[in-house]
Amino acid sequence: MMNVNVYTEAIDALSATLARAEDSGKRNMNAMTLATVNRAGRPSTRTVLLKSLDAKGLVFFTDRRSGKGQDLEAAPYASVSFYWEPIEAQARVDGRVVMLAREHAELDFASRPRAGQVMILASAQSQSLESKAALTNAVASVEKSYPDEVPAPDYWTGYCLVPDFIELWFGSRDRMHERVAYTQSTEGWQKALLQP
Ligand SMILES: Cc1cc2nc3c(=O)[nH]c(=O)nc-3n(C[C@H](O)[C@H](O)[C@H](O)COP(=O)(O)O)c2cc1C
Repeated sequence: MMNVNVYTEAIDALSATLARAEDSGKRNMNAMTLATVNRAGRPSTRTVLLKSLDAKGLVFFTDRRSGKGQDLEAAPYASVSFYWEPIEAQARVDGRVVMLAREHAELDFASRPRAGQVMILASAQSQSLESKAALTNAVASVEKSYPDEVPAPDYWTGYCLVPDFIELWFGSRDRMHERVAYTQSTEGWQKALLQP
């Protein structure tokens, strides 16, 4: 098999597994745990939603000023994992993270419900909050400033995780869990089975 096809197979397998999880009807099957590291090499994780997936990579959106945004500025690498309980499967993707052009963030922002847009403007994600009332006031102030369209703030950012490692894990009742790893090396993409 040609190496480029190994990568295509990996992306197709990841997409197909996500689609199978989504077919279960459970919510947020596109939620993934995103791990980043800070300048000191300390990891941290949080959940974000996968907004698109294709051969270019895995796209998510966030506030560039947040903890994860600062981490990605210092160390543009991440690892994400999904756990799909309804189909007893897991996926992990590692790679480099690139910031997407502003138009992607603008399109994503425009696709969000107004209340979500208002909160993105009112909240300085991951900064400390004096009180709940302070946030309520900030929301009211944004509502007043933008009675019609809410403009996308420049810190709202799309990121693409460009995979160099993809692993799929499929649980089995007999404990013969199947693990398939796709790894990018100097010779191109390689596929291997891993012991459970
Ligand atoms: C199901 C779920 C989905 C989430 N999706 C996003 C998302 O797409 N983007 C985002 O910035 N935060 C999202 N969050 C909030 C993050 O988990 C996190 O609290 C926030 O981004 C701040 O993270 P940080 O301080 O580590 O940067 C989501 C949380 C949950 C529970």
